[in-house]
Amino acid sequence: MSTSTPLGQKVVLITGASSGIGEATARLLAASGHQVMVGARRTDRLAELAREVRAADGALDHHALDVTSRDSVESFVGAALDRYGRIDVLVNNAGVMPLSPMADLRVEEWDRMIDVNVRGTLYGIAAVLPRMREQNSGHIVNVASVAGHRVDPTAAVYCATKYAVRALSEGLRQESRDIRVTVISPGFTESELLDRGGALEAQGAARAAARQLAIPASAVAEAIDFALSRPAAVDVNEIVVRPTLQG
Ligand SMILES: NC(=O)c1ccc[n+]([C@@H]2O[C@H](COP(=O)([O-])OP(=O)(O)OC[C@H]3O[C@@H](n4cnc5c(N)ncnc54)[C@H](OP(=O)(O)O)[C@@H]3O)[C@@H](O)[C@H]2O)c1
Repeated sequence: MSTSTPLGQKVVLITGASSGIGEATARLLAASGHQVMVGARRTDRLAELAREVRAADGALDHHALDVTSRDSVESFVGAALDRYGRIDVLVNNAGVMPLSPMADLRVEEWDRMIDVNVRGTLYGIAAVLPRMREQNSGHIVNVASVAGHRVDPTAAVYCATKYAVRALSEGLRQESRDIRVTVISPGFTESELLDRGGALEAQGAARAAARQLAIPASAVAEAIDFALSRPAAVDVNEIVVRPTLQG
């Protein structure tokens, strides 16, 4: 498969790039010279991001994306293939974290976390894997969390989704010989993650901790950039990036 992009420039797709880690990653990778395609539901945010990146001579396109819909994910990836003819990297970053004690039975929020964090990641993999196998190359970066390494109260379901992301990433890695698989596990990071849903007390406690500890989203973007920029034969499988202050 020929590439329509300059040598060394990768075609990078990023889900959930309308704020936080996804947005910071899009800015950094575009500034590093890659061709970036971003997706999310808040397309006004994506349009503004595209405007700013292009004003700085970066290459960034955007497309509406709801990762809970397989059709939407296929159309996001299809748009990138139509435009660039190949996909080098998919960053499965979209995620939600409404925290609550299990006894609250906020089952709709449990479903939402499973749909976005797990199904969304799988739909992304399903959409790019056939093409990457045809290309005999590709890189799938799945954003998990420190919550995929340890379980804390009020985060049980969120942790379950992030453990799942690590498990499916490891399985994909074992089955792949020319596709790289990286799991990025951030700790407290500045973003809008705590602004949506969850039980008041649990969200409040997490916000208070984030105000004390959180590292900038660019710190996580730099870890992703590091994994992408290793030689093709080197697969950085796991990176945990957390605040030095975080226990
Ligand atoms: N911030 C942290 O402390 C932290 C720590 C560990 C892991 N993480 C992980 O980092 C990732 C990014 O989160 P963030 O911290 O940067 O939070 P954020 O600022 O809230 O960003 C989340 C992104 O996901 C997108 N998203 C949510 N639901 C979506 C859907 N159905 N379809 C498409 N996009 C969707 C949002 O865009 P729209 O709402 O516009 O669709 C947004 O762009 C998540 O996977 C999160 O679990 C964050």
